[in-house]
Amino acid sequence: MSQPIDDLLSIRDLLRYATSRFASSELFYGHGTDNVWDEAVQLVMRSLHLPLENNTLFLDARLTRGERKMILERIDRRINDRIPVAYLLGEAWFMGLPFMVDERVLVPRSPFAEILEAGVQPWLSDQPVNRILDLCTGSGCIGIAAATVFEDAEVDLADISTDALAVAQANIAMHELGNRVRAVASDVFNAIEGRYDLILSNPPYVDAADLAAMPEEFRHEPVLGLAAGDDGLDIAHRILAGAADHLNPGGLLIVEVGNSWPALEAAYPDLPFIWLEFEQGGDGVFLLSAEDLTRWQASKN
Ligand SMILES: C[S@@+](CC[C@H](N)C(=O)[O-])C[C@H]1O[C@@H](n2cnc3c(N)ncnc32)[C@H](O)[C@@H]1O
Repeated sequence: MSQPIDDLLSIRDLLRYATSRFASSELFYGHGTDNVWDEAVQLVMRSLHLPLENNTLFLDARLTRGERKMILERIDRRINDRIPVAYLLGEAWFMGLPFMVDERVLVPRSPFAEILEAGVQPWLSDQPVNRILDLCTGSGCIGIAAATVFEDAEVDLADISTDALAVAQANIAMHELGNRVRAVASDVFNAIEGRYDLILSNPPYVDAADLAAMPEEFRHEPVLGLAAGDDGLDIAHRILAGAADHLNPGGLLIVEVGNSWPALEAAYPDLPFIWLEFEQGGDGVFLLSAEDLTRWQASKN
């Protein structure tokens, strides 16, 4: 229960208060932060539009009554309604870039950021990247981050959800990338034309058992972004079936399937999946070359 607070004057005080409230509550961390302190810093500092780093200058600054009220309400909603901080703020960060988010899209948290920061090396070598597809784009975070890494590439952000595409479109505009990034309505590859040098995808991949056991925070995310059938592979199967027909020679398919990776590997014993490793956490992301996919498809016929 929140108590009346008469004397919360500084940002430092509010950070302490948020930390204590979060620490004494049953919360799940994993929508942008993984601990109580980072969660408190993100909520308090970003509610005030202050930077997450190099911000000690402001710690003893006092808040207006309005600011204090807004932050106390957000702390209450985080705890009572189990709303992820990103939705309370309307923003999330991915690969150091800001994205507008709300309950129409998942909160960005994919290890894809690490792959893109490395320029998809060593996998890409000196292969030119002219066209990129971000399949199942949600907020557009992966495709827009890719567009900032591959500065000359044209990028398509595809999703079946028109709600998600509206958010992706807002993020394209926010990043001023409308000249080479576009949002496309498509059920997996159904409305996708032509071939790409990179197909990146963080599709829904939560299996039925995991979905049923997810903490409250996930109930605020669109189920269309999470659920993918009994074994979590409904969309992954369709991506594998269509990828070879949409990749240029030398192109790469990179897909996140999270905890569903053992089921995927068991389902495709003939596919030479490369499972990527991450320094900043995360797993269940595979890479396949256009050549491997084409060979595999030919072997099935
Ligand atoms: C796990 S979310 C990923 C969002 C974003 N790529 C990210 O990393 O934050 C999966 C997205 O796939 C979309 N989706 C679900 N089924 C789809 C389908 N059949 N075709 C295209 N997109 C689909 C959902 O609407 C959701 O936005």
